[in-house]
Amino acid sequence: MSVKRIAISLEPKILKRLEASMGRRVYWNRSKAVADILRDWFSNEEWVNGKGIKVGTISLVYEHHTHGVLDRITDIQHDSGASVIATLHVHLTHEECLEVIAAKGTAKQIQKIADCLASVRGVKSCKLSVVC
Ligand code: NI
Repeated sequence: MSVKRIAISLEPKILKRLEASMGRRVYWNRSKAVADILRDWFSNEEWVNGKGIKVGTISLVYEHHTHGVLDRITDIQHDSGASVIATLHVHLTHEECLEVIAAKGTAKQIQKIADCLASVRGVKSCKLSVVC
């Protein structure tokens, strides 16, 4: 495979993190690490801009004692317009729950579910992962 050489500039702090991350993985050089990061970025971009039916997972951590949080999370899934294929619930600690939601629909519908869930009071983190 032919390659083109480019030069990039990174803040020392970012370069240090990249090298530390490479040390924890099987990457054997910076070029391969940067290429993999870019491929992942392109894949996300294609998913977001692509047409048709997509699949994504949304992982959220929430404080289950927060009043109304579970009702709100359930309502968002019912009202989303996308199909919620499956959910996984894990009682992480006495206070926190992890919910993983697999959703099928347009990228816009799935993104909307993630955005709505992220805005619910009691939700501490919410991450959308594109699947296909
Ligand atoms: Ni729980």
